[in-house]
Amino acid sequence: MLKRELKEEDRITILSGAGISAESGVPTFRGKDGLWKGYDATQLATPQAFAGDPEKVLEWYVWRRNLIGQCKPNPAHFAIAELEEAGRDVVTITQNIDNLHREAGSRNIIELHGNIWKIRCSAGCPAILDVPRDFNPPGDAPRECPTCGKLLRPHIVWFGEMLDPADIRTSEERLSETDVLLIVGTSGVVQPAASLGYIAKSAGAYVVEVNIEATPLSSMADQSLFGAAGEILPRVFEPLLS
Ligand code: OAD
Repeated sequence: MLKRELKEEDRITILSGAGISAESGVPTFRGKDGLWKGYDATQLATPQAFAGDPEKVLEWYVWRRNLIGQCKPNPAHFAIAELEEAGRDVVTITQNIDNLHREAGSRNIIELHGNIWKIRCSAGCPAILDVPRDFNPPGDAPRECPTCGKLLRPHIVWFGEMLDPADIRTSEERLSETDVLLIVGTSGVVQPAASLGYIAKSAGAYVVEVNIEATPLSSMADQSLFGAAGEILPRVFEPLLS
C-alpha cells in the first residue's frame, strides 16, 4: 500500500486532525457538515467570545462534551495505538481535543489544541483540572477556579491564542528526526499545525497523506492515500503488526 516499505526501526509520526475521528461520529470543522458551517467560530472559540458571553461559550462546550462523550475510538485510532503497544517508535501529534487517541491506548501524544476533558483558570492560575466524566449536569464542568474563584474555561486553544511553546518545540524536534510522517484527516489550513509537515519533509521524511480528498498538503506529500482513515491506517500498519 505504501510505496516505501515500513521498517521496524522507523520513527513514525502521525499528525492528525478532525477527519481521523469522523468515523467515530465526532463532527469535523470544515466541509459540508462541518461545525463551522453551523456555528460562528468568532462567537464561540475566541477569548473575546468568552469575555463577552462566558455562559454561551461554556454551554457550547457542554454540548460538545456530551456529543464527544458518546464517541468511541475507531480502527484508525486503534491501529496507531497498537503500533505503539507493539513497541514501535510512534508519536501522535494531534489537533483534536476529543481524547480518542488516548482512549484507544496511545500514550505518546502531543495535543496541540488542548483537551475538552480538561479545564483551567481563565485568570491564569497554573493548575489544569480534569472534567469529571460523571459531572452533573452531564457534559458540564466545575465553574470556579479552586485557587482564585474566577471562571474556569476549557483547556483548549482558541482562535487568536498561542499554542503551548513546549508542545511546538517538542513537535518540531520530533518532526525533524522522524522517518515517516502520516498526515491524517486534516484540511491543512489552520496554522501552525498546517506547517508542521514541512519540517519533516525538508528533513527527509517520507510523507504520506491520508484523507478522503485532496488538501493543500497533497502536493508536498510523497504519497496520498485517498479514503477513510479507519480503513486505510490498519492496512498501512499491518506489515508492522503481524
Ligand atoms: P477540518 O474539519 O478542517 O478538516 C477535516 C479533514 O478531514 C478534511 O480534510 C476532510 O476531508 C478529512 N476527513 C473527513 N473524514 C475523513 C475520514 N473518514 N478519513 C480521513 N479524512 C477525513 O479539521 P482540522 O484540519 O482538524 O481548531 O481542523 C483544524 C483545526 O480547525 C481544529 O483543530 C480546530 C478547527 O478550528 C481549534 O478549535 C483550535
